[in-house]
Amino acid sequence: MALLLLAWIGLEEGRCSGAVVQFIFGDSLSDVGNNNYLTRSLARPALPWYGIDFGNGMPSGRFTNGRTIADIVGDTMGLPRPPAFLDPSLDDETILNKGVNYASGGGGILNQTASFFIQRYSLWKQIELFKGTQDMIRLKIGNEAADRFFKQARYVVAMGSNDYINNFLVPIYPDSWNYNGETFTNYLITTLESQLTVLHSLGVRKMTLFGLGPLGCIPLQRFLASSGQCQESTNKLALMFNSKSKNLLENLSRTLPNVTFKFGDAYSFFQKIIDRPKTYGFTNSSAPCCSTGNIRPAITCTPLSSLCKDRSKYVFWDEYHPTDKANELIANSFVKALGFGKPKKGTN
Ligand SMILES: *[C@@H]1O[C@H](CO)[C@@H](O)[C@H](O)[C@H]1NC(C)=O
Ligand SMILES: *[C@@H]1O[C@H](CO)[C@@H](O)[C@H](O)[C@H]1NC(C)=O
Ligand SMILES: *[C@@H]1O[C@H](CO)[C@@H](O)[C@H](O)[C@H]1NC(C)=O
Ligand SMILES: *[C@@H]1O[C@H](CO)[C@@H](O)[C@H](O)[C@H]1NC(C)=O
Repeated sequence: MALLLLAWIGLEEGRCSGAVVQFIFGDSLSDVGNNNYLTRSLARPALPWYGIDFGNGMPSGRFTNGRTIADIVGDTMGLPRPPAFLDPSLDDETILNKGVNYASGGGGILNQTASFFIQRYSLWKQIELFKGTQDMIRLKIGNEAADRFFKQARYVVAMGSNDYINNFLVPIYPDSWNYNGETFTNYLITTLESQLTVLHSLGVRKMTLFGLGPLGCIPLQRFLASSGQCQESTNKLALMFNSKSKNLLENLSRTLPNVTFKFGDAYSFFQKIIDRPKTYGFTNSSAPCCSTGNIRPAITCTPLSSLCKDRSKYVFWDEYHPTDKANELIANSFVKALGFGKPKKGTN
């Protein structure tokens, strides 16, 4: 009996001191499969050519040809890649060993963002799902071990692009006429403040918030600008969001006990890649690699789209999302700036 008890304690302790896992909250930039299970969603990377440079080359649930930024950052930190929340194989053992990814294409800080896509998980919804995950783990390993597990886990929150691109900047949505750029950004930041405070109350301690990239330079935004140039007004919104959310994290780091909240900023690095692609090994930083030619803009890349010749030479994969190669450079810039370890070349 004593022996059994010892073995059992050893097992529980081994698990709790050993596994540091990640929980990821985000949108299509971090989705690893949730939207493919949301069958009514209009934003699903379910068909080729998504995933063409990942694993067996079939759609991987990611909105890119290869890895996401969060994949690469996590790999560099030596953390396992968390499976999608809706992955049917997700069970409590998997959660204890790998964490969970709640990210969903079209998801926003605001519930009403990207309603056009019909199905997607907003950040509030993702937090609700996280609570459910916590209940499940508490039942499995008990409250104390669960508290330790969730406090030592790493968290990523990467949201906000859709709140601009698929809400504020779309003139059919009320938010676009009820707010101006500054008041809308403040609305996002106060909402984000409540969300991060709730996450803290749930035991989130080590969190990285990824800031936004130059949203005005994604192919869709260039297409909508008749000049084909980046939309500077959109870029200004992203910069405003970044500066206010960075300030929010500084404030929360002062007011909430025991937190390490970091702001990951790759905006200016991403802008440099777009402005001087050749310096970084790219040939094209304006058009999507996967494109339907003159039927633009298309929400997703499809089997009818044509692909660029060399996917590692394009910064953008589709109208919205960077390629694996661009994600790698951006992720390495995050890792360096945040002191997360030595950037390295990963594999898909
Ligand atoms: C947002 O959605 C969640 C459910 O996902 C709901 O609980 C919450 O009340 C909503 N918040 C607002 C401000 O609409
Ligand atoms: C951070 O705190 C300062 C000082 O209290 C305040 O003026 C500022 O508005 C806060 N920023 C955010 C984003 O909440
Ligand atoms: C903060 O950390 C200290 C030391 O680990 C602990 O005693 C305290 O209870 C923590 N506070 C909160 C609110 O988690
Ligand atoms: C990028 O590719 C698009 C579409 O193939 C093309 O129209 C554009 O001229 C290219 N840009 C550069 C800088 O080569």
